[in-house]
Amino acid sequence: MSTYTEDRRKVTTRRLAEMKQRGEKIAMLTAYDYSMAKLIDEAGVDVILVGDSASNVMAGNVTTLPMTLDQMIYHATSVVKGVTRALVVCDLPFGTYQGNSKQALDSAIRIMKESGAEAVKLEGGAEIRESIERILCAGIPVVGHLGLTPQSINKFGTYAVRAKEEAEAEKLISDAKMLEEIGCCAIVLEKIPAALAKRVSEQLTIPTIGIGAGGGTDGQVLVMHDMLGINKGFSPRFLRRYADLSTIINDAVAHYVDDVKTSDFPNTSEQY
Ligand code: KIV
Repeated sequence: MSTYTEDRRKVTTRRLAEMKQRGEKIAMLTAYDYSMAKLIDEAGVDVILVGDSASNVMAGNVTTLPMTLDQMIYHATSVVKGVTRALVVCDLPFGTYQGNSKQALDSAIRIMKESGAEAVKLEGGAEIRESIERILCAGIPVVGHLGLTPQSINKFGTYAVRAKEEAEAEKLISDAKMLEEIGCCAIVLEKIPAALAKRVSEQLTIPTIGIGAGGGTDGQVLVMHDMLGINKGFSPRFLRRYADLSTIINDAVAHYVDDVKTSDFPNTSEQY
């Protein structure tokens, strides 16, 4: 049991800023449904991200691109019902904010109004500045996302580490500063060199949350299915597995099948 589970005060965007100020690392995980959100909230995670990685781990798609706004709202609504402490952040899915800033604002408002999530996350920097500004003007907290932005996978053509070259690293630093300047409450840094992530984190007052970005960020995020070992087909270097749920679930289900086939289940105490 974590020593951090006793603090049941609600996490807000303001508390995230305070955590960075006092050097307390931020623990973030994804969730997509009520039951798992409740479990990970009770276990002390600070931020729950209703990620569009739901496209991969819930819907079985190869990329995050097929996810719709209605699907994200469905997942976020379920997550919010299970959470009392963590800050709930919901991804704006591909195609719901890149068109123009009005589209971005409408999408963000739908997420906040219909799901009860407390912030939205958008992928990108200067290209989507106007959209982020308009969402922020409506009083909606925004988390940025730089580095490997999976909604742009067709442009990148690879899930390899981003910003290894000077030009891309410089753009990332300038995007991060801009996101802070216009009022984002945090930035996810995905799959970039650890030294770059540390440099960005040191230059910002808002927290950075890394995934595959080393230990120099202000917090860490992992996809729940990956860290719990539900999804064993994905093993990047940055992933630490904290459980082997696929084996546990497989064994339990095989045991149940055996019990049913041999008429061991149900026994006399398991019936009316
Ligand atoms: O969709 C997601 O789960 C994410 C995390 C990987 C940061 O964006």
